[in-house]
Amino acid sequence: MQKELRILRYDPERDQEPHEETYQVECGPMDRVLDLLHKVKYEQDGTLTFRRSCAHGVCGSDAMLINGRNRLACKIRVDQLGGKRITVAPLPGLPVMKDLVVDMDTFFAKFRSVKPYLITEGDAPERERRQSAKDRARFDDTTKCILCAACTTSCPSFWARPEYVGPAAIVNAHRFIFDTRDDAAEERLEILADKDGVWRCRTIFNCADACPRGIHITQAILEVSSAIVGRRV
Ligand code: FES
Repeated sequence: MQKELRILRYDPERDQEPHEETYQVECGPMDRVLDLLHKVKYEQDGTLTFRRSCAHGVCGSDAMLINGRNRLACKIRVDQLGGKRITVAPLPGLPVMKDLVVDMDTFFAKFRSVKPYLITEGDAPERERRQSAKDRARFDDTTKCILCAACTTSCPSFWARPEYVGPAAIVNAHRFIFDTRDDAAEERLEILADKDGVWRCRTIFNCADACPRGIHITQAILEVSSAIVGRRV
């Protein structure tokens, strides 16, 4: 079959503003949007620029706006989209560097701001830090994040207030706040109690819809909000 691939393109060295370019691509129903982008790049226009690495939904590098929704290009197949045309654009809300590549610096700065790593007090134990299966299950869902930014860049609260730390950072804070081996939950809750922390969430659920890993993001945000409130009573 043939699909029309309409891609929002922008080269800061050549273009005044982004514009759409259209490509006819021969493909099968099981081809993924990433396969179509590769066909355009390798067979029609080598200047097309996009990020990808694993091509299997693990690295999180090829999140983009596909038919109006944030998705991973390597996870969405042609037969899941329907219609004759597929539109592709960069993730919304972040500066475009070229074509489908956005500047992720502020996204990763927010991720780092919540201290997304294990912090412990006292001496290291002689053996591993043990944890029950029940305690591990408490934060299992939020360990699945691949930092693709699909959630944060689909959030209207983030579009309206780019300083908002965003769903991805909160998800990664949640992963450690509820880890019984970690000693810095209080520190992270203080960071997220800021005016640009969890209170910016309006429970719109765009983030949960966009997550390619199916993480219950809004629930995680509400659990962190409750922990902040609980800490103050
Ligand atoms: S290329 Fe790695 S998640 Fe798609």
